[in-house]
Amino acid sequence: MSAPDSTPDTSVGQPAVLVARRVFPEVLARLRQHFDVEANDTDDVWSPEELQRRLQGKRGALTTGSERVGAELLAACPDLRVVANMAVGFNNFDVPACTARGVLATNTPDVLTETTADFGFALLMATARRVTESEHFLRAGLWNRWSVDMFAGAEVHGTTLGILGMGRIGQGVARRGAHGFGMKVIYHNRSRLDAATEAECKATWVSKAELLAQADHLVLVLPYSAQAHHSVGAAELAQMKPSATLINIARGGIVDDAALAQALKARRIAAAGLDVFEGEPRVHPDLLTLPNVVLTPHIASATLGTRMAMANLAADNLIAYLTEGKALTPVNPEVLGA
Ligand code: DGY
Repeated sequence: MSAPDSTPDTSVGQPAVLVARRVFPEVLARLRQHFDVEANDTDDVWSPEELQRRLQGKRGALTTGSERVGAELLAACPDLRVVANMAVGFNNFDVPACTARGVLATNTPDVLTETTADFGFALLMATARRVTESEHFLRAGLWNRWSVDMFAGAEVHGTTLGILGMGRIGQGVARRGAHGFGMKVIYHNRSRLDAATEAECKATWVSKAELLAQADHLVLVLPYSAQAHHSVGAAELAQMKPSATLINIARGGIVDDAALAQALKARRIAAAGLDVFEGEPRVHPDLLTLPNVVLTPHIASATLGTRMAMANLAADNLIAYLTEGKALTPVNPEVLGA
């Protein structure tokens, strides 16, 4: 397979790029200063066939986590040179296939770290303190008296916060727990953080078994990969405290949602807060019926400022690569030197 060269585009006229989902008009306007832009102006996800058809002749694409960029698509789109994901996660990309084809892949790290960590903590609080469950009760007109243990939830301050996956967002969650809520922070990650970062996050590395057994609140922030599939399933849930809460702001597929629904139903763990789901936007039907789970539609990075920063960073990657052969946040930087 021959890889296209990675030098800036010098073809006559503006290079053509595809924006696969609706983004902010300001971002489209910036792209139009450099490119001939075809854009999806809806929130509908194009089918793989439609995406492939629209990518013909395109040098770049701005994608979201919903568009799969795999070997088959890349083979069918020989003009494609760069795919810029508007997400920090890039499990929708087959990165080795991109690299083999000389296609640069980029993501949007850093700009969403603090916003996503805020949301992780919000979901933890809502889950532990039964915020949505009690709100539904109130809205249903069922609140007619005070009761000593009504919606008594789990303590957050001073408890043990466990974090599985201690990248930038995990560290943000750790700092909030340690410094804001006086929590003891333990984490598990393939590689240990350096001592200075551990000290800043007041976090201690433990084995995965220790993490599961000791955490009062376990937050999942690890990237999805085939190895990470069902990192938390029935066996892991059985190792958690019956009083524990589980928060998933990572990716659907990290948790076995069917096993989680069973564990929540049987109260093998107390509660869960989920922002991501296997096969989303579908949600496991059993989860929808349970009171002890807080469900949100993949919105951890959703503030207007952060979504704008993500869209601009994805656009900047397209502009930098197709006009100068550079990239701001490459996932496969080896393509740049090819
Ligand atoms: C990310 O950036 O990976 C988010 O999950 C998408 O919003």
